[in-house]
Amino acid sequence: MAVNENLRTPIVSVMGHVDHGKTTLLDMIRGSAVAEGEAGAITQHIGATEVPIENIVTKCGDPSLKDRFIVPGLLFIDTPGHHAFTSLRSRGGALADLAIVIVDINEGFMPQTIESLHILKRFKTPFVVVANKIDRIHGWNPNKNSSFLASYNKQSERVKTDLDNKFYDIVGELYNLGFNSERFDRVGDFQRNIGVIPISAVTGEGISDVLMILLGLAQKFLEGSLHYTAKSPGIGTVLEVKEEKGLGTTIDTILYDGTIKKGDIIVVGSLGDPIQTKIRALLKPRPLSEIKAEEKFQQVAEVTAAVGVKISAPNLEGALAGAPVRVVSPETIDAITAEVKSEIADVQIDTDSVGVTIKADTIGSLEALVNELRKEEIPIRKAHVGDVSNRDIVEVSAIEDPFYSVIIGFNVKVLPDAKEKLQTTSEVTLFRNDVIYRLIDDYKDWAKKQKE
Ligand code: GTP
Ligand code: MG
Repeated sequence: MAVNENLRTPIVSVMGHVDHGKTTLLDMIRGSAVAEGEAGAITQHIGATEVPIENIVTKCGDPSLKDRFIVPGLLFIDTPGHHAFTSLRSRGGALADLAIVIVDINEGFMPQTIESLHILKRFKTPFVVVANKIDRIHGWNPNKNSSFLASYNKQSERVKTDLDNKFYDIVGELYNLGFNSERFDRVGDFQRNIGVIPISAVTGEGISDVLMILLGLAQKFLEGSLHYTAKSPGIGTVLEVKEEKGLGTTIDTILYDGTIKKGDIIVVGSLGDPIQTKIRALLKPRPLSEIKAEEKFQQVAEVTAAVGVKISAPNLEGALAGAPVRVVSPETIDAITAEVKSEIADVQIDTDSVGVTIKADTIGSLEALVNELRKEEIPIRKAHVGDVSNRDIVEVSAIEDPFYSVIIGFNVKVLPDAKEKLQTTSEVTLFRNDVIYRLIDDYKDWAKKQKE
């Protein structure tokens, strides 16, 4: 087996609690892979880093690997925070093919670690858990860029025991969340057990193990789902909507199928009617060597999946993170616009029936919140993207059932006039959090107390 031309690069999302080391891990993967393998170039994308299979193979020190794996490499998405995963949606599913959940071995599970695992469970996304910062274990003797086992075997008995204890806390936490896990080298069947890999993103210990296991997961789980057609019209997802000096509003897009060209007409999801616009420029970051160049980006004529690219075009102001981006032709524009519109409408709910009102920051997070509430059989009256507004408060205050005169806000602000209104409107209860399961727990606890 060798690299298969018709398979696109799997998309790997890095998730975990703040400060547990997502960015450092990606820097290390990038840096060490650049240093050790010159065969294929590491490419920096908008919001992503692509590591070709050649570099991974060199990093793992076993050239025969290349014949065992069929994927062309791995595309790591490095947008900060665990919210990136829910933004990276496609038709109600997850765009990421694989994930890494990173947890600080000395701190253990934190709310966003748990949130990440809830999300992965719902989407059935294959993942590994990385237990980071092993170099911080008291007495750890670092072995730069070594595999985990080689370094572990050189540690004193006391250090080994200390690591094992912390490690089994993580295995216990995973068990409580419904996952069977084991140290990666002891996992026989990755379909039944989650592999946990102790690493240090600073010394590079265990990084080669992470790359190997990810390739293994890609091979095992994804072979059937990575086929794509390079020549077909591009399909992507908005990762972030960004103002850029001199360019106006741009959309950082992850393209996961087909090709997108400068001058193409695209349809982009928004809260109102989908945006139809013509691509003015496709932009990629300048190579690291040119980082001092005046302009941050360089123009490209076309790109093919899977890539991260910045799209500059008129009228992108209303674009939504997590919404689809589709290349269209005069023949397909009407049908695709209707499709995009209904896709967004499917996520936003607007009914006259009784239920709670929910607000969220992106289309993906709204979708995740709706799903969780449905699982708990909590009825929803209205679900919209956006901050909590005065109008929301007025509407909700008119609801008579106190269980439903409630607004649940995920990662949103309360607008100033709404804040004022809230102070004088005692019948409205507002729940806000940036962790979905906490919001649900808070609401349930509150509802229980109301009943008593
Ligand atoms: P957010 O993007 O804010 O969510 O954080 P993050 O998960 O990207 O964490 P980041 O990589 O920024 O790391 C946070 C801090 O931990 C930084 O000071 C890193 O240098 C440090 N750090 C990360 N990994 C390691 C590690 O393996 N060992 C040690 N000693 N420090 C680490
Ligand atoms: Mg970060």
